[in-house]
Amino acid sequence: MSLSRREFVKKGAAASAAFTILPAHVLGMRGDSGRPLAPSDKLNIVGVGVGGRGAGVLREFKGHNIIALCDVDWRYSEKAFDEYPDVKLYQRLYYDFRKMYDDLEESIDVVMCATSDHTHAVIAAQAIAMGKHVYVEKPLTHTVYESRLLTKLADKHKVATQMGNQCASDDGVRKVCEAIWSGMIGEVTKVEAFTDRPIWPQGLPRPVEEQTPHSELDWDSFLGPAPYRPYHSIYTPWNWRGWWDFGTGALGDMACHILQPVTLALNLKHAVSVLGSSTPLLTDCAPNAQRVHFKFPAREPINNIPMPALSVIWYDGGLRPDLPEGWPEGRDLNHHGGGVIFHGTRDTLIVGCYGSDPWLLSGNELPEPVSTRKITDGHYMDFIHACKESPENRRVCASDFSTAGPLNEMVVMGVLAVRLQTLNKELLWDGERMEFTNISDNEEMKIMIEDGFSIKDGHPTFDKTFTDYFNAKTFAQELIKHNYREGYTLPAMP
Ligand SMILES: NC(=O)c1ccc[n+]([C@@H]2O[C@H](COP(=O)([O-])OP(=O)(O)OC[C@H]3O[C@@H](n4cnc5c(N)ncnc54)[C@H](O)[C@@H]3O)[C@@H](O)[C@H]2O)c1
Repeated sequence: MSLSRREFVKKGAAASAAFTILPAHVLGMRGDSGRPLAPSDKLNIVGVGVGGRGAGVLREFKGHNIIALCDVDWRYSEKAFDEYPDVKLYQRLYYDFRKMYDDLEESIDVVMCATSDHTHAVIAAQAIAMGKHVYVEKPLTHTVYESRLLTKLADKHKVATQMGNQCASDDGVRKVCEAIWSGMIGEVTKVEAFTDRPIWPQGLPRPVEEQTPHSELDWDSFLGPAPYRPYHSIYTPWNWRGWWDFGTGALGDMACHILQPVTLALNLKHAVSVLGSSTPLLTDCAPNAQRVHFKFPAREPINNIPMPALSVIWYDGGLRPDLPEGWPEGRDLNHHGGGVIFHGTRDTLIVGCYGSDPWLLSGNELPEPVSTRKITDGHYMDFIHACKESPENRRVCASDFSTAGPLNEMVVMGVLAVRLQTLNKELLWDGERMEFTNISDNEEMKIMIEDGFSIKDGHPTFDKTFTDYFNAKTFAQELIKHNYREGYTLPAMP
């Protein structure tokens, strides 16, 4: 009987499980045994989601042992697999991360996760609960609850963590923070930020035609914890970003980069309210353009610089903030895919996407950063160093989940403001309890399924189809904490 490639490798993977590759901690060298690893010691790393961004992240971990790879689409990830001939030779290729963990738990030191947003939490939470260090791409998770959980689990299990918003380790972010903490732009009461994304399809109704996935795509594993949907090639690879079940739209895709210097410099935690609006909002797909207004309470002063109540306003899909007064004519506010304006009482600070190339509207020079830690080896190797250090002596990574978690909570809560916009009110947010406090038990809402429009006899004809009315509170709760499909669970909240 001939076996398909998929069956062959599934069987092979099971056979290879008999061999354990000694991980760093078994050799008595990992931090939690109290003795840090020497810089030369190699970590055993597995990658989950390697067809796109994941391949690049793994390359950054060069010099370490990439011992196994997991991807639901082996055709898309073939090039990435080819980079690791030993992994192929020993048949440590997987479709399902749960099987890989079962087979290799003893051997793994680090899990790198670069799947679509909706599976980050299940992949990372289980890894952390097994005591593994995790590098997770941005946005950290799909929901607020998942962010809180990963933050608390990481703290409980004392593992090294890093979210993939690589600019967190760059000097641009340090420069922004130190400028604000020096008082040179005064008190900040408004920040505006934008991205030129989406560059993928959005604003679409769900496809009606059901397609058959190619033979090397495990569609069920792609869906993972999400509700069942028939396969269509419009979802994966890459374009899942625009579909609510799998992605978080342009805000989720870019805000963890763009707002990193904002949340860090201004010490933001929970917003107290949020208001979203957008181009037509459909049930399944993110809208083409959005605006989200977050309000934050006053915070403790930093270096005696007051941190008053603050508005953070986000724009995407071609929308942008107004150019501030005194803007140099002809200069593009969009720098590498977006930008940020910090409106201070003494000056206006402009920052590009990824915290890049900050400058002051007054023309004054920004000083070079001196008081914050310079990350000399970059975002990826700084994480690897952290994995080798004991928890007590670990230099916390720039996007350790203790900071990445709250940033991500803010971002994915902003997504909810857009999804709940037909309630037509500013939503009040209780961050500690993870709930909107002004959606009443019996409140109802509906969302557009399709925005039909045609010209009939020379007249514009509108034909909008809506869902039935449904309970808004239950819907909001489901968006904050998903119910997963059978087979997928999270560890309890510590
Ligand atoms: N930091 C950055 O600059 C940056 C850049 C691009 C993407 N990203 C992030 O990386 C992640 C992946 O994005 P991408 O552009 O590579 O998407 P992609 O669709 O190109 O690649 C995702 C890969 O994960 C695989 N996959 C999906 N679900 C899986 C699962 N449950 N188990 C195993 N494999 C699975 C897919 O088959 C695919 O190979 C996203 O979170 C994205 O936001 C970050």
